[in-house]
Amino acid sequence: MGIIQLENVSKTFQTDGGVIEALKNVTLDIEAGDIYGIIGMSGAGKSTLVRCINHIEVPTEGKVIVQDKDLSKLTQKELRKQREHIGMIFQHFNLLMQKSVLDNVCFPLFIQGKSKSEAKKKAYELLDIVGLKDRAKAYPSQLSGGQKQRVAIARALASDPQILLCDEATSALDPQTTSSILELLKDINNRFGITIVVITHQMAVVREICNRVAIMKDGHVVESGNTIDIFNHPKSEVARELFSKDDGSDSQAQPAVADRIQNGTRVRIVYSENSAFEPVIANMILTFREPVNILKASTKNVGGVAKGEMILEFSKGSEHIEEMKAYMKDKGLELEEISDTEAGGGSHVD
Ligand SMILES: Nc1ncnc2c1ncn2[C@@H]1O[C@H](COP(=O)(O)OP(=O)(O)OP(=O)(O)O)[C@@H](O)[C@H]1O
Ligand SMILES: [Mg+2]
Repeated sequence: MGIIQLENVSKTFQTDGGVIEALKNVTLDIEAGDIYGIIGMSGAGKSTLVRCINHIEVPTEGKVIVQDKDLSKLTQKELRKQREHIGMIFQHFNLLMQKSVLDNVCFPLFIQGKSKSEAKKKAYELLDIVGLKDRAKAYPSQLSGGQKQRVAIARALASDPQILLCDEATSALDPQTTSSILELLKDINNRFGITIVVITHQMAVVREICNRVAIMKDGHVVESGNTIDIFNHPKSEVARELFSKDDGSDSQAQPAVADRIQNGTRVRIVYSENSAFEPVIANMILTFREPVNILKASTKNVGGVAKGEMILEFSKGSEHIEEMKAYMKDKGLELEEISDTEAGGGSHVD
């Protein structure tokens, strides 16, 4: 039995424009130690599928079983615990721009309740693994895209996950940097035995690192199996189409999120324990396709419990603010509206 099993998973979204069937009866079995590729054109349902794996999206039908646990049967607390075993990285890195590299990696460790010195020690080890120990004091804006993704990988590894989900993690990078990140993922898979799920629309990525692959179209998995077999004998039309685009370079980095936001509405989010604020916010950005600026993020020790606070700013003139707030509340985050003057810089670890 695999480490991740999806059994007849369907996901529908009710929208003003009608019902969207993002996933239709998807069955997948991902073995421990796999580097499993999920590939398909835009809108095929890849991100929805990967969000079902950590239950950020709850399937409308079917089962998601991770490490022998049926996620639908877990309490919120058990689910949070389970999510600690699942790291995630994204196309646009989602780093805290006002924090140093070291602080970014320390952040989840504080949330786990680690002391400053423990967190720092672990963060340096993780930065060493991703080859960025000497840039610990730098800020994300001083790093290249590939280096930012390395920081995001170090942060994702902070909770010692057994599973790492990568949603278009190399799509904003040039081919050479893509290769170096893929090498790092391969190395992490090898050294720590972490199972990696790679979502991509680039065949070159699958070819380079995945031992198995599933091809998606319109919410269906149209074929799956060993990468080599599928490369040699693609059965589906969409597989052949994806192979024909296999040049490894088709995307351009977007302007920095902060550059596209000017003094919009701000909210404070408070969370405790290991709540999944990070995937929730990242997924909100992916879902609404709107930039959100993280103005401040910090943790406090309140009576021995790590409490975190984050101040978010929505784009000025955004039409989705209420929907985004509802989305975060729905995912279990506490929100409060705040005035302009309250948002300042974050705390630091020195
Ligand atoms: N929260 C949501 N509400 C409504 N529709 C959604 C939501 N999330 C995804 N969808 C829809 O579900 C379908 C699959 O979306 P998904 O983001 O999973 O695709 P994808 O394969 O990841 O695409 P891309 O390569 O562009 O990232 C799309 O039609 C999308 O518009
Ligand atoms: Mg996607």
